[in-house]
Amino acid sequence: MTTARTRSRFVEPAIADYALDHSSPSDEVQLELQSVTQGRAGRLAVMQIGDDQALFMEMLARAMGARHAVEVGTFTGSSALAVARGMGPEGRLLCCDISEEWTAIAREYWTKAGVADRIDLRIGPGLETLRSLSPADQFDLVFVDADKAGYLDYYEELVPRLRTRCGAGGSRPTRMTRTPMPSERSTTTSSRTVECESSCFRWETASPSSRRSPPAELAETTTLP
Ligand SMILES: C[S@@+](CC[C@H](N)C(=O)[O-])C[C@H]1O[C@@H](n2cnc3c(N)ncnc32)[C@H](O)[C@@H]1O
Repeated sequence: MTTARTRSRFVEPAIADYALDHSSPSDEVQLELQSVTQGRAGRLAVMQIGDDQALFMEMLARAMGARHAVEVGTFTGSSALAVARGMGPEGRLLCCDISEEWTAIAREYWTKAGVADRIDLRIGPGLETLRSLSPADQFDLVFVDADKAGYLDYYEELVPRLRTRCGAGGSRPTRMTRTPMPSERSTTTSSRTVECESSCFRWETASPSSRRSPPAELAETTTLP
């Protein structure tokens, strides 16, 4: 497999094919990035998001008018490329990853795509990077696609930084906490006391009145409020 039209194990292949056949195709940079990732990362290339998810993330960033976004888990840069494109030249994306090796590929293709100046890549554990941010750093869009065991910590760090009208997603958040139900909710926006029992999670803004649910799932990999 040199390209990844979809990573879904949830959507019927015929439906995924139909949707992609009637969607904007990936451009040359994206296709080359997929091919290079496959060539250099081998089996690990499955970590890269599919064409459908990339298109969805680009459209989401554009539709929201997102200007500040953060990603934890960048790998060779596909999802970051999508978000950076969607935000346009005014957008700023903070990328967190621990791998110099994979993100070197990302940097190369962000440059080819003309979005490198929108992306601030920080190498190091994502949690440390997030904790080093100023309290004033707020985001319109966040995407977590890294070490699954860290998701709850990312959630706790990122929720207070979400602007109202934000969007957030996590890839395969199977170990994520579920959102506290209203009866369980304290004055904070999330609670570690809630049991991890659901594969579905919701990110919340600090303003309960702006919250919209239920989440919609895209190809089982991205959950959005
Ligand atoms: C599933 S891949 C990300 C795929 C990427 N979003 C894409 O679209 O191609 C997971 C990435 O998380 C990174 N990662 C793992 N643990 C991490 C940590 N503690 N902090 C930051 N990044 C981490 C890995 O180096 C890897 O590149």
